[in-house]
Amino acid sequence: MRRALWLGLALLCFQPAAYAADAARGKLIAEVRCTPCHHLDSTTFQVGPGLLDIYGKKPTISGVPFRHWDAEALDAWLANPRGIKPNTKMSIPRISKTDRADLIAFFKSQSARN
Ligand code: HEC
Repeated sequence: MRRALWLGLALLCFQPAAYAADAARGKLIAEVRCTPCHHLDSTTFQVGPGLLDIYGKKPTISGVPFRHWDAEALDAWLANPRGIKPNTKMSIPRISKTDRADLIAFFKSQSARN
């Protein structure tokens, strides 16, 4: 019974969002919110690793439980980096769910592995 309840809850949480993510808007958000610390157009390290082609890539940073930076991993990371890796230096103000979806759409559109 309990398991069924958790499964139901999990399914509810993973319902695809009705919002259609906007990659062009995501690019603008990335330019404002990520470029203080990340290059978007190269993999060169700035304050953090360059994010060119990050979607689908294996994490280059240590201490994160993801095999690849897919949509779920990026969403979890951008929602709360410290929740994933308590001692991470990536400290950012909150990003809304809509903005995260747009950011992910941008990274996906930019990547060869989408
Ligand atoms: C204040 C600086 C800062 C800002 C702003 C910032 N990051 Fe980061 N980011 C970092 C640092 C530092 C790391 C390395 C963290 C570590 O090693 O724990 C990192 C790591 C990452 C990684 C892991 C990359 C890899 O190669 O595995 C991703 C993905 C990422 N950031 C995405 C973003 C996105 C998207 C934004 C904009 C919404 C953003 N970051 C904004 C500092 C920042």
